[in-house]
Amino acid sequence: MMSKVVVVGSLNMDIVIQVERHPHVGETIFSQSVSSIPGGKGANQAAASASQGAATHLIGRVGADDFGDALLQFCHRFCINTDAVKRVPNLPTGQAFVTVDVEGVNSVVVHGGANQSWGATFSDTELIGPGDMILAQLEIPTHIVAQAFEAAKTKGATTILNPSPVAFFDLDLLDLTDILIANEHELGTAAQAKSQPSSADDYAAAEAAAAGRACKRIITTLGELGVRIYDRGERSSVPGRRVQAVDTTGAGDCFAGTFAAALADGADFVAAAKRANLAASISVTRLGAGPSMPTRDEVDALIN
Ligand code: RIB
Repeated sequence: MMSKVVVVGSLNMDIVIQVERHPHVGETIFSQSVSSIPGGKGANQAAASASQGAATHLIGRVGADDFGDALLQFCHRFCINTDAVKRVPNLPTGQAFVTVDVEGVNSVVVHGGANQSWGATFSDTELIGPGDMILAQLEIPTHIVAQAFEAAKTKGATTILNPSPVAFFDLDLLDLTDILIANEHELGTAAQAKSQPSSADDYAAAEAAAAGRACKRIITTLGELGVRIYDRGERSSVPGRRVQAVDTTGAGDCFAGTFAAALADGADFVAAAKRANLAASISVTRLGAGPSMPTRDEVDALIN
């Protein structure tokens, strides 16, 4: 049977405003535009994976409201299987308030809503099969991610953790993680470093510290500088691709979803990282997170 990508994570409606610059604390400014755009780290990663042609399931929660309807429609447009996206009657669908400046740099405030309503037990274990890629982030309760990863381990699936937002990173998850996809802040937290890594030596030390847990394969995403790869002691890197960024929201999600899809398709670790790096460089040239995920053909065009 073909491997599939199973994303366990959040769905948010992103309320995106474009501004000349971010406001200071206590300051009021005007925005140039406002839009409601599908997002949430889980939905974004599922969209990135499905856009690459991988059979993709999303396990998540939305409210019984209009944003919940819109997010499910968005997933279906991307051919994401949403049988395991449950509707929560008494909470709103998650929302993220995203401010994007003229450099494409964002700041985000999330209201979790239905994303936080999972109960005590992860109950979708039957969706996970041998060889699948199980991809999770931290906009849903940590105990659900841990239980999903435990189920994945039992079934012979590969667990991929993108520990974002970093404030909710429970380091015990590293013991259940096969592949960590982190930015520099998240890598620093995984390594329990006093400050975020900045030199090559810092990165090497942080990778070694994080790999002291069960997690032996680490990708550090460095934005326009590309990615660092740590694969069971072997180190390499992929350079960034220079583009004019419009909106960097969801670039990390694009990377993670594309990477998981490439592995499910049989690519090796470095080839999957190269592909994901190119996909993320395309996504930042478009406004919004979920809809900005590139197709397989768009990524292929940069490779061939
Ligand atoms: O990673 C980007 C996502 O983070 C946005 O789509 C927003 O929903 C926030 O959760």
